[in-house]
Amino acid sequence: MSSCSNYQLLSLAVMLLLIRVDASSQSQPRKEDRVKSAVFVSPKFELKPGSVANKYYYNIDFPKGHIAIKDFHAQVVDEAGNSVPLYETYLHHWVVVRYYQRKGVEEFNVSDLIVKRNSGMCNGVLNQYFGLGSETRKTATYVPDPYGIEIGNPAEVPDGYEERWLVNIHAIDTRGAEDKVGCIECRCDLYNVTKDENGRKIEPDYIGGMRCCYDEMRCRVKKGFKGTKKSLYLKYTVKYIDWDASIVPVKIYIFDVTDTITWEKPQNSTATVPKHNCKIEYQVESCSGGAVANVGCTQTNKMSVSFPSGGNVIYGVAHLHVGGTGSTLHGQDGRVICSSHPIYGKGKAAGNEAGYIVGMSTCYPKPGSIKILEGETVTLISNYSNTQRHTGVMGLFYILVAESSPKPNSTLQYSTDIRRGENVILHTAVGASAVFGIALLVVAGVTCQRRKGRQEGYGSIQMEHM
Ligand SMILES: *[C@@H]1O[C@H](CO)[C@@H](O)[C@H](O)[C@H]1NC(C)=O
Ligand SMILES: *[C@@H]1O[C@H](CO)[C@@H](O)[C@H](O)[C@H]1NC(C)=O
Ligand SMILES: *[C@@H]1O[C@H](CO)[C@@H](O)[C@H](O)[C@H]1NC(C)=O
Ligand SMILES: *[C@@H]1O[C@H](CO)[C@@H](O)[C@H](O)[C@H]1NC(C)=O
Ligand SMILES: *[C@@H]1O[C@H](CO)[C@@H](O)[C@H](O)[C@H]1NC(C)=O
Repeated sequence: MSSCSNYQLLSLAVMLLLIRVDASSQSQPRKEDRVKSAVFVSPKFELKPGSVANKYYYNIDFPKGHIAIKDFHAQVVDEAGNSVPLYETYLHHWVVVRYYQRKGVEEFNVSDLIVKRNSGMCNGVLNQYFGLGSETRKTATYVPDPYGIEIGNPAEVPDGYEERWLVNIHAIDTRGAEDKVGCIECRCDLYNVTKDENGRKIEPDYIGGMRCCYDEMRCRVKKGFKGTKKSLYLKYTVKYIDWDASIVPVKIYIFDVTDTITWEKPQNSTATVPKHNCKIEYQVESCSGGAVANVGCTQTNKMSVSFPSGGNVIYGVAHLHVGGTGSTLHGQDGRVICSSHPIYGKGKAAGNEAGYIVGMSTCYPKPGSIKILEGETVTLISNYSNTQRHTGVMGLFYILVAESSPKPNSTLQYSTDIRRGENVILHTAVGASAVFGIALLVVAGVTCQRRKGRQEGYGSIQMEHM
């Protein structure tokens, strides 16, 4: 199967560019009038009952120019554009990584690529700007005014390079699965896996996790279960505004509860620097086993790190897997920086699938009310119910931090009502498409990636997985 032709034919990225033109515009443009929205789809990936896709697509469609990202929303859709429920296609994660690509290079080669990672905290892994998992449909990702994630600043791009984006999508088809939870927790026995993607033998105490559910593996399906091959896409909506001096840039930090620090001395330096070893995944032991300290069958994992540079927290959200009950980031004095809790689905519809985490609560502290100081010790707590064992779980926490304060003459005022802001934008988008009917079909064939060479890319880009 050539992913190249798939890309050309079917990533026929449908791009809806909706720019509101307000007839009754006032002298000062209102913030919502400036927000643009672009909808894209990833290249197609295919799944059959039990199978896994863990794909890396480079040079994906993305808004161009010097802009501030205000929102990044994604979900899995089928060929008809319908939302696919998690009990059919479990979205383990998607992550979007910013990178610089050397210009004028025909063959794909990772050595021509520089990852432009977020501001911390891990080394080598969790480099992404955006990324979530099953909770993607009901998790707010809006960046309130006057803040924005600055991208596309030509002054930041090294000479001879251009800014691009890649997406890693990891999805598991659990139609007909003997044990859906076991499949989404990547239990090695269900995948009948003894060696990982790199051919390394899996140790007997590694019961489940990403090393057992890599691309093209298959989870055990009920005998005789028949299901057709499905064509799927990650559909992502990016909201953004053109960059201007009144926008306050925010930095992205991702904490990992499995982080452990070792002190290392760089070659030509006398001072030691902390190296964050983030394992990303861990295991939750059943409380009946008794090996782990627990209260009321909750496994609490904890990690403390020194925060590199201070500022105001303007957004926070945790990432947990099934079994997760909540996560909190604390300051050095014990105050709560942000607490984020899972929203479990209760029904059948996509976005409300019973038993799955379909959303995470978020924090939008009033700017200035929650600060982290440079060098402050920050503690992450991640809770899971351990009435049963869980493998391959995660305890991540994303925060957005503004180092500077809004300028007094900013045209963008902080919007305290996030909900309203969001509704305005959705309304704006619908209104614009209804009125102007602007729908641009962009054939993404030009961005076709060579499959050859990507293989080598896998190993070194593997770290971007969430
Ligand atoms: C990628 O680039 C490096 C350094 O330029 C080179 O040594 C290597 O052979 C290249 N790999 C491929 C597959 O072209
Ligand atoms: C599991 O894999 C082994 C070899 O790797 C194979 O012999 C066996 O048939 C597989 N079992 C199932 C249930 O697929
Ligand atoms: C804010 O005021 C300063 C100084 O008066 C000016 O340089 C700057 O351009 C203004 N910014 C905006 C967004 O108007
Ligand atoms: C250390 O080495 C790096 C690259 O090898 C170099 O860019 C940097 O300037 C060096 N720092 C010092 C203090 O010599
Ligand atoms: C995590 O669990 C501990 C007890 O184990 C509890 O004190 C704490 O409030 C919990 N935090 C969250 C965010 O659920």
